Amino acid sequence: MALKVDRIRADFPILNSEKPPIYFDNACMTLRPQQVIDKINEYYVEYPGCAGRSLHRIARAVTENYSRARDNVRRFFNAGQSEEIIFTRNTTEAINLVSRGLGLKKGDIVLTTDREHNSNLMPWLMLSERSGVSHKVVGSNPDNSFNMDNFEKMMDRNVKLVSMVHTSNLDGYTIPAEKIIKIAHDHGALVMLDGAQSAPHKKVDLKKLDVDLFACSGHKMLGPSGIGMLYGKSEILEKLDIYNAGGDTVVDTTYSGYKLAGLPERFEAGLQDYAGAIGFSAALDYIRSVGLEDIARHEFKLNRLMTEGVKSIEGLKIIGPLDPSERSGVMSFTVDGVSPHDIVMLLDQSSSVMMRSGAHCAHSWFNSRGLKDGSVRASVYIYNTEDEVRVFVESLKKAVDFFRK
Ligand code: ALA
Repeated sequence: MALKVDRIRADFPILNSEKPPIYFDNACMTLRPQQVIDKINEYYVEYPGCAGRSLHRIARAVTENYSRARDNVRRFFNAGQSEEIIFTRNTTEAINLVSRGLGLKKGDIVLTTDREHNSNLMPWLMLSERSGVSHKVVGSNPDNSFNMDNFEKMMDRNVKLVSMVHTSNLDGYTIPAEKIIKIAHDHGALVMLDGAQSAPHKKVDLKKLDVDLFACSGHKMLGPSGIGMLYGKSEILEKLDIYNAGGDTVVDTTYSGYKLAGLPERFEAGLQDYAGAIGFSAALDYIRSVGLEDIARHEFKLNRLMTEGVKSIEGLKIIGPLDPSERSGVMSFTVDGVSPHDIVMLLDQSSSVMMRSGAHCAHSWFNSRGLKDGSVRASVYIYNTEDEVRVFVESLKKAVDFFRK
């Protein structure tokens, strides 16, 4: 079914302001609907206490809403048990938690793709420095799609973890996760997916995928910033070391010892972002009510229009597969001789089109290709319209002409 975009737009305060933006920076951060804002407020106004500690009514209300939020996350991603959902600050924190806690040692190999966000590269580079774990990169095909042959050749019994970006923030491409997971498991390796860009745009069924670890962030899926989650199969989380210890991570301590709490508490030290978790859950309700299949169709429609629209611009090169159906809601591109930063600044000023320019935290990919200024990235979501795409295309053409004069 086609999305009722007018109705959706009515829920987003900033889109109903005097001069609404044409917001094409959704791969960085989405806008938030009133329903999410109301839910965050509800916490601060009605039950601004802590969970899992005090026994009074306000605290009990927080405990109840916080655990309901966790269970909603479990249902959204079809995880087995809510204890397998750990609230983190974001995807980055979740990946760091895994890299610190998995107990990888010298001689073990971690495989990533060649287009990782720094959040799924830095933890492994640092682990290599600290403990001699080897980090290896699977090279992509020339169109940036996943090269299964390269991957299979690199798999051996020393690979202990395959940690890959599920949908790329660089070009919107989604790796064939099911096949990768199957091959990795056949070689005895665990798989973690960085789902920051897949979770908002496609159905992620954790049980069906049989992925071992999965991370995503609230702010890319209509939720608050500063909240995200790590999913892990319980048998893996049970063995994962904690790197942040304190209140609620233990059931008892003495001056000389401690007894760790169970899952998920042992990973959530100190008072938590309760409003964030409750707001995140409201965002998932909103996405569910719109429907992920319809969201994917809407993004494809807009991306096809963008891709067609920019075809005639001389020297414009799209990063990733040319076919927009393989790039989710993302169109990342360079224009020969024109700075990506100049383009985004001019489009913001001339037509309120807001995009991101630069390396999109994937410097390694751009450096390896000698693209020192990065790219322009237009990324759409549920509230974007075909008219907005037309404005974007026309403004881009004018901007390129202007800078080439
Ligand atoms: N990962 C975010 C982006 O790609 C920050 O913009």
